[in-house]
Amino acid sequence: MKSLIDILNLSTAEIDELIRTAISISDNPAKYSDICRGKTLANLFFEPSTRTRMSIESAMYSLGGNVINMNDQSTSSASKGESLSDTIRVVSSYVDILAIRHPSEGAGLLASEFSSVPVINAGDGGHCHPTQTLADLLTIYREKGSFDDLTIGFCGDLKYGRTVHSLIKALLRYKDVKIYLISPEELALPSYLKDYMNELGNSYIETISLEDAIPNLDVLYMTRIQKERFQDINTYENLKDVYILKKESLNLAKDNLSIMHPLPRVNEISIEVDNDPRACYFKQVLNGKYMRMSLIIKLLSLYEKTASVKETGSHNDIGSNKEIISNEKIDSDFKCKNPHCITNHERGLKGVYEIKDGKKQCAYCEYEEDIS
Ligand code: CP
Repeated sequence: MKSLIDILNLSTAEIDELIRTAISISDNPAKYSDICRGKTLANLFFEPSTRTRMSIESAMYSLGGNVINMNDQSTSSASKGESLSDTIRVVSSYVDILAIRHPSEGAGLLASEFSSVPVINAGDGGHCHPTQTLADLLTIYREKGSFDDLTIGFCGDLKYGRTVHSLIKALLRYKDVKIYLISPEELALPSYLKDYMNELGNSYIETISLEDAIPNLDVLYMTRIQKERFQDINTYENLKDVYILKKESLNLAKDNLSIMHPLPRVNEISIEVDNDPRACYFKQVLNGKYMRMSLIIKLLSLYEKTASVKETGSHNDIGSNKEIISNEKIDSDFKCKNPHCITNHERGLKGVYEIKDGKKQCAYCEYEEDIS
């Protein structure tokens, strides 16, 4: 693995290894405090962030490395019309590793195609967020001791909830994981993820009722209804407070329920729940820093930089990232129907799809369309 774009880039053994290293870092931070001396990370954030950007920055500093930041698209040459691929080519020539958050789905994969150094996808639109999943996995591991036989409920915005998408993919590799999908119909999980669960034979239950689901859960993963993902503000207003976890909502829950949330929260968890011993969402934050430290060590140790000439991939001549897009079908006539897909925003980028179960699936954003 050269980059982390999708949580499925990591094998189960690699996730175990990242967790072991993260626990070792938290037990003995001094041992790791100089491990990235002389290395520099670039943080390219085209969307707002508190936790992900600052925890990646804090992780790199705690490893003895340096960080350069692009926090605001309006002060970069993206505002002059520079393409993402050009930005990535340029920035990757300054640094040893880069992290990118972008509103377009598939932007992380595009960045990895053009970067000469490892790329961390720090969130691509409503698609995926693999480093949040690493934070979530360490939290579940520390709370439950294992991922097998868990019943986990995902509640809220499952349509655009990138943290939900990545965590579901990660959990499906473990034994007898049962999933409750708790959302209004308008915010249901994308079909490609349901297809994926069906393919793997995992059981899931869809419901709109948090009250009905909560007694069955070992883990409740609450999410924010994300105003920034809605085209129509009235739809957001109608849905924004559809789930509010209150102290009374927990009367029917198990004593050892773990309540998680990737944060930021708005109204979906009442502040009174914060003092409940089952609330884990602030623990996720620190676990995220340890897992990002562990990931940076892994990606940098895997990456052998050629001293003078850095190889740069180029789109549709994917080179070093062949392992990321596999079985691809590049088709200049294919146009992804997802308006948020990077292929609809980046000049000159050709469509790439795979045929899956009679559907065309975009290799960048995983949006599926029927073949007609
Ligand atoms: N969980 C998360 O991604 O938070 P930020 O948007 O603050 O980075």
